[in-house]
Amino acid sequence: MITNELSKNWVRISAIADHVGQEITLKGWLYNKRGSGKIQFLQMRDGSGFMQCVLSKQDVSEEMFELASSLTQESSIILSGIVKKDDRAPFCGHELQVTSVTLVGKSVDYPIAKKEHGDAFLMDHRHLWLRSRRQHAILRIRATIIRAIRDYFDNHDFLLVDSPIFTPNACEGTSTLFETEWFDERKAYLSQSGQLYQEATAMAFGKTYCFGPTFRAEKSKTRRHLNEFWMVEPEVAFMDLEGDMQLAEDFLCYVVEVVLNKHEKDLTEILERDLTILKNVKKPFPRLSYDEAVLMIQEIQKEVTDEETKKLMHIEWGMDFGSPHETELTKRFDKPLIVYGFPSQVKAFYMKKDPQNPKVAKCVDILAPEGYGEIIGGGEREDNLEFLLKEIEKHGLNQNDLEWFLDLRRYGSVPHAGFGLGVERTVAWLCGLHHVRETIAFARTLDRLYP
Ligand code: 4AD
Ligand code: MG
Repeated sequence: MITNELSKNWVRISAIADHVGQEITLKGWLYNKRGSGKIQFLQMRDGSGFMQCVLSKQDVSEEMFELASSLTQESSIILSGIVKKDDRAPFCGHELQVTSVTLVGKSVDYPIAKKEHGDAFLMDHRHLWLRSRRQHAILRIRATIIRAIRDYFDNHDFLLVDSPIFTPNACEGTSTLFETEWFDERKAYLSQSGQLYQEATAMAFGKTYCFGPTFRAEKSKTRRHLNEFWMVEPEVAFMDLEGDMQLAEDFLCYVVEVVLNKHEKDLTEILERDLTILKNVKKPFPRLSYDEAVLMIQEIQKEVTDEETKKLMHIEWGMDFGSPHETELTKRFDKPLIVYGFPSQVKAFYMKKDPQNPKVAKCVDILAPEGYGEIIGGGEREDNLEFLLKEIEKHGLNQNDLEWFLDLRRYGSVPHAGFGLGVERTVAWLCGLHHVRETIAFARTLDRLYP
C-alpha cells in the first residue's frame, strides 16, 4: 500500500509551494478534522508541516467520503489531490483538494485530545505529545540552535573534538556524579562536563570544542535542571577571562540572530513569544562583578514584600547564586547579564584564582534575561601546578586519576579559558518556556525515566 501508484507524486508539506496546480500525494497523519455531510476538512501533518485538505462529496466515491468522515485523530493516511494556493488556508497558505483517501493505520482513542491536559499526563505521553504543533516548533528551534552553535565554532577555526562520556573522576563536584561499574576493575562516572578533556585538546589544537550529552545526578526539582542535558564547550589556549567573555558574548549574539531570522513565525504565532528582548541581544552585554551583583541582590531583597521570596533571596559574600537570585537579578536587565569573579570557595577545583585576590576565581556566568538565569558558565583555568594540587586535595579528588590533567601544566602550560553553554536552558529562554522539560525530546529528571 505504501509503494504503489500513489507514491509517484509524493510531496512533503514543507515543499508544497513548489507544486501549486499539480496533482500530488501526501503521506502522514490526521491532525484534526471537521466537516459536514457534504464536505470534510482534514488537517493533515506529515512531519514536515501541517496542511488543510478538503474533500467534497461530489469529487469522490461514496465509500471514500464515508471513510474520510470516519477517520479519527492520528490515523495514518495517504491523500492525493490538487494543490491550491490560498492565503486564508490555515498552517501553510495552501490547500489540497482531495481526490483520493487511503487509510494506512487506524488510531483508536488517541489519548491526547484538544482539551487541556496536566504536565504529568503529557510527559507520560511524551512519545505522542511530540506530534503536536507546539512541540514541533520547539524541537525545530532546538535543531536550529544546535546547527548555529556548530556553525559558529566551525566558522571560527575551532576543531570539534568530542570528550568521552565515561570518566574516571568528577569535573563539577563529587555530589552530582552518576556512577557505574567499569567491569570488575573500578567505578566509572558519566561525564558532568567535557571541559577537562578540552583542556588537553586545546593544548593540542589551540581552539577546540566538544558538544555532547552531560550528566548530573542533581536531586533538584527545579524548572532549570535536567539530569541529562547537552552542552557545548569551547576551550582556547592563550586566552584569558576577558577574551572568554568576549567570545561568549559574540557567540550568543550569533545564535540568537540565527534563531530570530529563521523562526520568527514559530516563535510569535505558535509559541506566542514576545521578541522585544530577544531582538535586543546585541553586544556589549552589561557586566557586573560578583561583588556588585551581591549588593544589587541585597537591594532587591529589601524591596521584596513576599516573605518566602525574601528568605530565598538572602545572600552574603561567599555564597553561590541560587535560582531565585538569578531570576530577580536578570529581571532588572533587558539583555543577557555577565557576572564575573565569583568566590573561589563555591567554584570547581580547576578555576583560576585571581592573582590579585586569590579568594576570587577568574570565572564568568552569563545569565539570560527575563528571569531565565544562568545559561553559560566558564572562565580561565588554573595553570599553576601547586595551586591545582592543593585544590584537588581540598575537593577530595583522587590525584592519580588526574595525573594526565596535571601533565598539561607540566608540559608547556599556557593561560587558557573556555565555557559551557547548556542547550536546554538556551532553548527554554529563546522559546519562552517556563520549564526545561519541553526543550528536549525525552527529558530525564529526578522523577522521570519514562518514556
Ligand atoms: O556552569 P556549569 O556547571 O559549567 C561547567 O560544566 C563547565 N565545566 C563548563 C566549561 O567551562 N567548559 O554548566 C554549564 C552550563 C550551565 O550554564 C547551564 O546552561 C548548563 O550547563 N547546565 C544545565 N542545564 C540543565 N540541567 C542542569 N542540571 C545543568 N547544569 C548545568
Ligand atoms: Mg555554573
